[in-house]
Amino acid sequence: MDEIIEKAKEHFEIIVREQLERVKRLKSEKDWIDYSKLKPIIIGIVGGDGIGPEISKHAKTIFEFLLQDEVKDGKVELREIEGLTIENRAKVMKAIPDDILEEIKKCHVLLKGPTTTPRKGDKWPNIESANVSMRRELDLFANVRPVKVPELGIDWMFFRENTEGAYILGSKGVNITEDLSFDFKVITTQGADRIIRLAFDYAKKNNINRVTVVTKANVVKATDGKFLDMAEKIAKEYPEVEWDDWYIDIMTAKLIDPARQSQFKVLVAPNLYGDIITDEAAQIQGGVGTAGSANIGKRYSMFEAIHGSAPRMVEEGRLKYANPSSLIKASALLLNHIGFIEKAKKLEMTLDICATYEKKLVITGRSNGATGEVFAKYIMETLQHLNLEEKWKSYQ
Ligand code: IPM
Ligand code: MG
Repeated sequence: MDEIIEKAKEHFEIIVREQLERVKRLKSEKDWIDYSKLKPIIIGIVGGDGIGPEISKHAKTIFEFLLQDEVKDGKVELREIEGLTIENRAKVMKAIPDDILEEIKKCHVLLKGPTTTPRKGDKWPNIESANVSMRRELDLFANVRPVKVPELGIDWMFFRENTEGAYILGSKGVNITEDLSFDFKVITTQGADRIIRLAFDYAKKNNINRVTVVTKANVVKATDGKFLDMAEKIAKEYPEVEWDDWYIDIMTAKLIDPARQSQFKVLVAPNLYGDIITDEAAQIQGGVGTAGSANIGKRYSMFEAIHGSAPRMVEEGRLKYANPSSLIKASALLLNHIGFIEKAKKLEMTLDICATYEKKLVITGRSNGATGEVFAKYIMETLQHLNLEEKWKSYQ
């Protein structure tokens, strides 16, 4: 027994030391990168696994089309980064192989296709999710996920903390004995501060009068308790923004309550709760395939589709029918983030028209629907529409 306890203590000591070091780094964090001062802004396009390389190809074509002038005059560079595949990751037993991480770190923003996350019992070794690793390596602390369902009055913006909570030590849990397992959850003052502040800033900048904080602070008292305390403190700095707080269980119910759902606007949550409610929200919008997701840090940012790599589509020879919509939505978020606000707006309106309203082509994922390539062409044709905004408005 003493030996077991000694080992557990050692393990705990190591992770506590690591996290104390991390807090030190967070305290000396630099300010936000200014894209307007960069030339070129390097956009890395990371294909990933399964359908990823295929749908990224279409997203890249759309970038090339929308950013042709910027690429020509050297303001933007589009850079393809290959090889972030499960085969390569399994070969070197790393979530992100070193050479690829190095390439990634030379970019400023990334558009990333889905990457396969090994799960218990499949054929891949138990390596960490590339997503989780990238969020940590690039310190992408904010996972920003918009969800809109106009006919239900839903216009939500989720700010999910992306680097702490139940994820940060996700692969460092321990099986103390055959019968006793521990995982760890971490919240820091600095980590809570920066995500909550981002949510309140967003609300203030966009004249949104409400921020909703989601925790389970009645039960998970130390970590969620800290998150909620921080929210209370930060809210005082934003007197013009009202705020409320909900526990995650009742929150999942209220998101589907017609009497309530349109009242939520900006929502901020620790990592795992944010993971769960953003899938729920995306489903209300029409499925996880319809949502885009931004992973934002002060130095790097990464934009991705929130669906998986769909290996079955590849195995069944349906690759070319994969739907690039979610990645294209992520591309619009990327353009907005690096300052191309008008282009981002145009792309979003176009996607609304093509995928939701006009639907001249429909993607079904099978041969009875359009291919991704044809859909991308449809997007580019629609983008050239002279009265795009009028056309979009006519559907509202
Ligand atoms: C997401 C995904 C990931 C997460 C998985 C793939 C590890 O569900 O981006 O929401 O849990 O963060
Ligand atoms: Mg998720």
